[in-house]
Amino acid sequence: MSAPQPRTSSGGAAEDWESTYLDSPRLWSGEPNAALVSVVSSLPGPDAAAGRTRCLDLGSGEGADALWLAGLGWQVTGLDIAPTAVARARETARGRGFSPQQADFRTADLTVWEPEDAEFGLVTVSYLHMPEHAERISILRAGLRALAPGGRLVSVAHVSAPPWADPHAQPWSTTRMPEQELEHLALDWDDWQVEEAGLRMRTVTGPDGTGASLDDGVLVVRRRA
Ligand SMILES: C[S@@+](CC[C@H](N)C(=O)[O-])C[C@H]1O[C@@H](n2cnc3c(N)ncnc32)[C@H](O)[C@@H]1O
Repeated sequence: MSAPQPRTSSGGAAEDWESTYLDSPRLWSGEPNAALVSVVSSLPGPDAAAGRTRCLDLGSGEGADALWLAGLGWQVTGLDIAPTAVARARETARGRGFSPQQADFRTADLTVWEPEDAEFGLVTVSYLHMPEHAERISILRAGLRALAPGGRLVSVAHVSAPPWADPHAQPWSTTRMPEQELEHLALDWDDWQVEEAGLRMRTVTGPDGTGASLDDGVLVVRRRA
């Protein structure tokens, strides 16, 4: 994903993201993120016998990842702070014939959100970067608390700016390597198992049409069953 970001970088995240969405009839491509697809495709799918059928997508935007996951059979809930993004995701879900039980989108501020229960078999987080990195870590921790035993959190994140972007601007200025994020998460290894903490490369096209390769940071953490 090349990244439009909210026009201001501190405070007022809801208003900033909402106006960023309102500036454009469609902000993202509508395609699921390639890194997420590649990671999730190699993981087990929903497992009704084990009670792992629900998936949570944090910062779901216009819903492309969540709807791809719903197509795999997950019952997906997408949470995002921008009402316009949530409305677009709901509309696309309806248009593709998904029921609200299969794909549900809700407005939520993840900086204050707490999962009601540890019931999700999969929690996904794609390119959710916050003005303060500590906020992102706190959201990842809440995502981990939402996992059912045996469930996985998959995070796909920027780790560096593409050649055409200002590395001192948001979100690049607050990105971290997955290994650093793991340190900040300070997981208890009795309860958690890290299945992946590394980089995956993808090809992107810059604003002038030039191609470049870009690394994404990938974390896959499993709650021990
Ligand atoms: C870079 S976009 C990624 C969207 C989507 N995951 C994707 O990859 O297409 C980041 C998303 O996070 C949402 N977001 C930012 N801060 C948030 C917060 N505090 N709570 C919930 N969502 C937030 C934004 O509205 C935006 O949709």
